Amino acid sequence: MKIIMANWKMTPPALGEARRLCIQVEQGLLQVARDNLTIVLAPPFVFLPLVQHCLHLAHLGAQNVSAEEQGPYTGEISATQLQQFNVEYVIIGHSERRALGESDKLINQKIKIVMRHGIYPILCVGFGTKKGQSVAAIKTIIKKQLRLGLSGIGSTKLTIAYEPVWAISRGLGTGKAATPKHVAEIAEFIKSIAPQARIIYGGSVDAKNAASFANENIQGALVGGASLVASEFLEIIKAFS
Ligand code: PGA
Repeated sequence: MKIIMANWKMTPPALGEARRLCIQVEQGLLQVARDNLTIVLAPPFVFLPLVQHCLHLAHLGAQNVSAEEQGPYTGEISATQLQQFNVEYVIIGHSERRALGESDKLINQKIKIVMRHGIYPILCVGFGTKKGQSVAAIKTIIKKQLRLGLSGIGSTKLTIAYEPVWAISRGLGTGKAATPKHVAEIAEFIKSIAPQARIIYGGSVDAKNAASFANENIQGALVGGASLVASEFLEIIKAFS
């Protein structure tokens, strides 16, 4: 099963826009063949109830989770709380969270906690890599993130998103996607370390380039900017279906 996950990040700013986007995606999904695809929307936490309410043809995801089960952790959201909204997927270790200081150890704890709750983790790797860097150097970084992130965890029931930080469309990245050849090479490498994991690509995926990433090792995409325009997101889904 392939997976296409929308990472809305800290957008849209207003509730009305989130509602509109959600409805547009839901209506568009009615027209799209998606037997072999899992579609997930990961809105900001505060929009989870809204998206849960207006989305029936896709699954609900979150962009983060606390590494703690419960307790006095100001500003954190627990796996149990996410389950109240039927959140089934959580993005863990995104570059934008690693840039805020999340360590591989914390990421490992988060993966373990969501797995205990039956929530499916999407582990992102690729933070710290640089555009133009040798493939060998990139592999060394990825290997470490996988070794520490997956410590004590098998690679079943897990998706690994290769997201070279420089390829992200806004903020930390250049807005230029990695080449399909590069993505295929790194996916094969990830597969050799985590053979049972599903591997997806993220970083400036759009309607035009999405099809070029689909191969036997790339089972979907993590989509940021392009997921905020329903028509664009639906085209990406079609490219993988
Ligand atoms: P992008 O973001 O598609 O806007 O590059 C992907 C991500 O950061 O998850």
